[in-house]
Amino acid sequence: MKRWQTVWRIVPLLAMMTFILSGCGIDELTTLNPKGPVAEKQLWLILISLVVMIAVFVVVAIIYVYVLVRFRKRPGQTGVPKQVEGSHKLEIIWTVIPFLLLLVIAVPTVKYTFELDKDYSKDPNALQVKVTGHQFWWEFEYMNEKIVTAQDLVIPTGRTISFHLESADVNHSFWVPTLGGKKDNNPGLTNMHYLVADKPGVYYGKCAELCGTSHALMDFKVKAVTPDEFDRWIAGMKSPTGTASTSALYKEGEEVFKKSCIGCHAIFDTTTKQVVGGKAAPSLVNYGDRFTVAGMLFNREAGDLKANLKTWLVDPQAVKPGNLMPNPMTVPGSKMETTMELTEKQVDALVEYLSAQKSK
Ligand code: CUA
Repeated sequence: MKRWQTVWRIVPLLAMMTFILSGCGIDELTTLNPKGPVAEKQLWLILISLVVMIAVFVVVAIIYVYVLVRFRKRPGQTGVPKQVEGSHKLEIIWTVIPFLLLLVIAVPTVKYTFELDKDYSKDPNALQVKVTGHQFWWEFEYMNEKIVTAQDLVIPTGRTISFHLESADVNHSFWVPTLGGKKDNNPGLTNMHYLVADKPGVYYGKCAELCGTSHALMDFKVKAVTPDEFDRWIAGMKSPTGTASTSALYKEGEEVFKKSCIGCHAIFDTTTKQVVGGKAAPSLVNYGDRFTVAGMLFNREAGDLKANLKTWLVDPQAVKPGNLMPNPMTVPGSKMETTMELTEKQVDALVEYLSAQKSK
């Protein structure tokens, strides 16, 4: 094969790799666009390692090409060239330089490894949040505030958030790329982790450990708000004001929920003014305020919430295969049997009821 043919075979491969790898750069799930001090320090480590590696590569490549050209075989040259071995000077140079380069990488790496592994569980200024990974959703418990929510993690800006990472079933990994590196949720263990968000915003989170059929769909969102707004959110979670409605469909939804769903899902009871219900499935307190349904159907525009809830409730298995939610109604061909046998009207009533669960 001629040389140009080889080159032309590699070009499409490189083009394809550029195309595929460019997908890694979406703004929401990148470590290259840090939004807090933890992520900034980690990016700095990536960059310093990269600079050292590129410098080594360039210097070695230049010497390599120079030697190839300078000492190539010339016309008329015969026999084996004079063999040289051992040079104290050279050996010292190529031992000392890599040692110094490794020091440049090692000093900040060791420093940050200890710094970023700090345990803030006893720090009175840190917000303590227990994060439990479930197949395939995230539970967030604000330990001192006695609040439980799911899929949307609301945090105050500028404050250290101390995470207690646990799992209810298999290994998961808690990762918010723009705020910092990942850490595992292992069953039977509590792994400590911390992150800080500098500015208000919504940061995307993912499960980063293969945990089953819907691992790739195990998303969550981190909503960083000002400390004042955070206090209002806490108050709203303890005593929502916007949940009651008098419509007949809402009333029916409430009845269906209290009969069929409350064993696993928690909700704010407007009569007793308390959070009631089970803990096996995501808490639905103020459900209407969430960014998504099931962590990945986005509630962007008016009407999205109800449409997404309907999609989810008609066949949860089609949205997130392998999840533990039984189908509310019979769906021909669905992977999960129904145990509730709700009618479509009852599902619509549930949609009406759940979408009205708001803080105000
Ligand atoms: Cu949980 Cu992957």
